[in-house]
Order: sequence, then C-alpha cells, then structure tokens
Amino acid sequence: TDTSGPDLRRAAAARALDLVKPGMRLGLGTGSTAASFVTLLGERVRAGLDVVGVPTSEATRVQAEREGIRLATLDEMPQLDLTIDGADEVDDALRLIKGGGAALLREKIVACASRRMVVIADAAKRVETLGAFPLPIEVNAFGLAATQLAIAAAIGKAGCTGGIRLRVGADGAPVVTDGGHRIVDAHLARIPDPEALPAALGAVPGVVEPGLFLGIASAAILAAARDGAAHVP
Ligand code: A5P
Repeated sequence: TDTSGPDLRRAAAARALDLVKPGMRLGLGTGSTAASFVTLLGERVRAGLDVVGVPTSEATRVQAEREGIRLATLDEMPQLDLTIDGADEVDDALRLIKGGGAALLREKIVACASRRMVVIADAAKRVETLGAFPLPIEVNAFGLAATQLAIAAAIGKAGCTGGIRLRVGADGAPVVTDGGHRIVDAHLARIPDPEALPAALGAVPGVVEPGLFLGIASAAILAAARDGAAHVP
C-alpha cells in the first residue's frame, strides 16, 4: 500500500479538522500537510466557523490570510488551545523531527504555547528510530564555522555519528529562516537516544533550537492508503 502522497496528507488534515471547535485559538503549522489543513479550515471559516489562528511561518500567514482566517500574533494571544502541524518524522513515543521547511523555531514556540499539539502526516513519516531524516538545527548567523565545529562535537557527545551541512537554497545561498537564522542539517541516520541531543546541542552558544520535538505532541493522525483510498485508522 502507498504510505505517502497528497491524498493522504489531505485525509489527515480533514481528520484534524474534527478537533477544531468554535472559539478555539489555533496554532497553524507549516509545510504541505499543514497547508492542506489551512485550506480546509478556510472553507469552514467562510462557512461561519469562528476561530483565531497564530501562524508558525510567514508562508502560513500569507496562505491563512488569503483563506480569510482571522489571525493574531503569539504576543496578542500567548495561550492557544490546539496546534495542528506536520512533521518530517514521528516515532511511536510521539517524538518528532521537524524543520524540513525551516520553520522549526516558530513551530516549537507555538506548539509549546498550546494545550495540545496534534501532528498530521502520511504514514510514511512514521519511523521506529528517528534520524533517517537529517535533523534540522536552527543556528545564529554569527560565527557559523565555529558553531558547526561545536555542533559536530556535541553530536558525538550525545552518542550520534554523521556529518553536518549548512542548508543552502536552490540559488546556492544559505537558507535564511523567518527569524533571520540559518539551518544546519545533521545527517545522523539514527538517533538512538533522542533525549541526549537537546542538552548537548543546547550547550552550544550559536544553537538557537534543534528540530527535535520531545514531549510536545499529544497525538498523531497518520493517514495510509487502503483499498486504493486514503484511510485514517
Ligand atoms: C516545517 O519546518 C516542517 O517542520 C514541516 O512540518 C515538515 O517539513 C513537514 O512538511 P510536509 O507536510 O510538507 O511533509
């Protein structure tokens, strides 16, 4: 059976819409799956649903505005009821790798300001061990070479091996996040002890935030294909 694709993402997004109640303060995630959710939410809003959203990226802000969804900043509305967001990997303990879309810092701040964070994804994102997807680490732009050396050492200390790479865009220039930072991707293949990494990486001064989400997600909606149709168990 297929475990990825736009139909599945839309199916997961549609299921997440069932969790949205009138009056809710919503965190709006980033990426193609979260974009499906924002599209569906926009339909509901235009049909009369009253919610307020806090976007996790400029891209999501632009999309949600076009959909006519009422928006607030996190400063205006620092406590949220529910955040719906995608993920790059999710394990059975609901630990996540996020940041493939370079929005991880705002995504984490918004998720942690929410009573619940629900992940929406196709079943291909589910893994036994995190790490096949390169771990995004948001870093300050100052002193990148020194920060990268320190990150490499911290990764070794946390029991992981593998190389790191500064993320560049299609134009070859370093990717700049909404917060003006850079992204270092750590190609670790396996992260045997995810809990050990944030402490080690957090001790590196230039690290703003690693894309590991531990103890943040409260549920995951993973869509798979069955009998040729998208299916959410
Ligand atoms: C954005 O920074 C990421 O955390 C996304 O949530 C992640 O990349 C998932 O994106 P897709 O839904 O497009 O796979």
